Amino acid sequence: MVHQAADLNYQARVARGQLDLGWLSGSGAEWGVRATPSRVGLTLRDIAVGSYGDLPDHPPRRTMAPRGSDVPDDVPDMGYTVNDLSAVWSDNVMELYEEAVSRQWSATRDIPWSELKPIDLDLEHAMCQLATVLSEVEMVASDFPAKWLWRINHDFVEAKMFLCTQVMDEARHTEVFRKRALANGGGMGRASAVVEQFLKLILDAESYDEGSALMHLLGEGLVLSLFRAGEMIAPSPVEKRIFRLCMQDEARHVSYGTMHLRYRLQRDPLLAADFHAYLDRGEELISALFTTPEVVEPATILAAGSVAAAAELGTAASDVLRIQSIEEYLQRCERAGLDRRGRMHLPDVILAGTSGATARSDAGAGSALGALS
Ligand SMILES: [Fe+2]
Ligand SMILES: [Fe+2]
Repeated sequence: MVHQAADLNYQARVARGQLDLGWLSGSGAEWGVRATPSRVGLTLRDIAVGSYGDLPDHPPRRTMAPRGSDVPDDVPDMGYTVNDLSAVWSDNVMELYEEAVSRQWSATRDIPWSELKPIDLDLEHAMCQLATVLSEVEMVASDFPAKWLWRINHDFVEAKMFLCTQVMDEARHTEVFRKRALANGGGMGRASAVVEQFLKLILDAESYDEGSALMHLLGEGLVLSLFRAGEMIAPSPVEKRIFRLCMQDEARHVSYGTMHLRYRLQRDPLLAADFHAYLDRGEELISALFTTPEVVEPATILAAGSVAAAAELGTAASDVLRIQSIEEYLQRCERAGLDRRGRMHLPDVILAGTSGATARSDAGAGSALGALS
C-alpha cells in the first residue's frame, strides 16, 4: 500500500490565508437535514436519516468511513469478510444497543454484597458450583463477538456496536459470578469438560451464522432460562438481584440472536437447512449438559432447599427447568422461522415432557435418537 506523504507546503499556504476547503466538496446534498431527538434523547434510530440512514445490503466499499460520508478513492480497503447485511443485522439491533447502554450496571456497586449472610452449607456449596459453571461459560459470549467484530463491514456499525455491548455485558457476568463464589466462604467449584466442549464449538464456528445460532439462540437461550428460574433458586436476595440483572442483559442477547436469524431467513429461506445442521450439532453436544452432575445438581439443590430434599425429589426439580428451557428454545426457533420440533437432536429421555417429544412421536422419528437415551 502506498502511504500518502505529508504535503509540506500546506502549512505555508494556510499561513498565507489559503484554506483548502476541498473537504466541503462532497457535502451539501443533505445540508439542512436535521435528526430529531425522540422522547428518550437522540437515538441511533433518530439519526438514521438521509443517506446516513441508507443501509446497503451489499456495501460497495470495505472502509471505516461513516455511511453518508464522502469517501476518497484512496481510503484503504479494511478487508472485511462479512459484507452481507443479513449476515449480522436484526430489525431491533438499534433499540437493543440503546437499551444496553442505558442499563449498564456495576457488579461492584449494584449488588448488595454487604447483605450476604452465612447460609446452609449445602446451599453454599450448590451456589458456588453454579457460580463456577456460569463464570466458566459467560465469557464465551464476549470472545465470540470479539473474534468476529473486526471482520464485519463497517456500514453495519449498529450491529457491531450492539456486539460491543454484549462483550461488556458478559465481562460483567463473568465478574459477578466469580465475586459470588468468593464472597461467602465457599470458593470455586469444579469446571466441566462437557461445558467447555460446547464453548469450543462456538469459538471454532466457521461462520458467524453458525456461531451465532449456537451461542445467541441455543447456549444463551438456556442460560436465560436458568436466570429466569433465579427467583426460584436464589438462596438470598443477593443472588436474586444478581440473576435479575444478568437476566436483563441476557434477554437482549437472545433477542438479538432470535431476530437476527429471523432477518437472515426472511431474506434467504434456503439457509434454513444450514441452520438446522448447526443446531443439530449443537443440541447433540448440549444434551450432555442435562446429565452432567456439576451443572444439574447445584440448581436442583438450590430449588429443593437441601441435598436431602433434592434427593427425595429425584428428577422432579430439574425436570421443571429442563422442560421450561427446551420449550423456550423451541419457541425462539419458531419465532425466528425455524421449526425444530420433530427434528431435535436430543435423546428421548432429555426431550420427555416437552412439545419436541410430542412432535417426534407424531412424526414417528423417535427410534433413532431414542436409542441415545
Ligand atoms: Fe451472560
Ligand atoms: Fe449473553
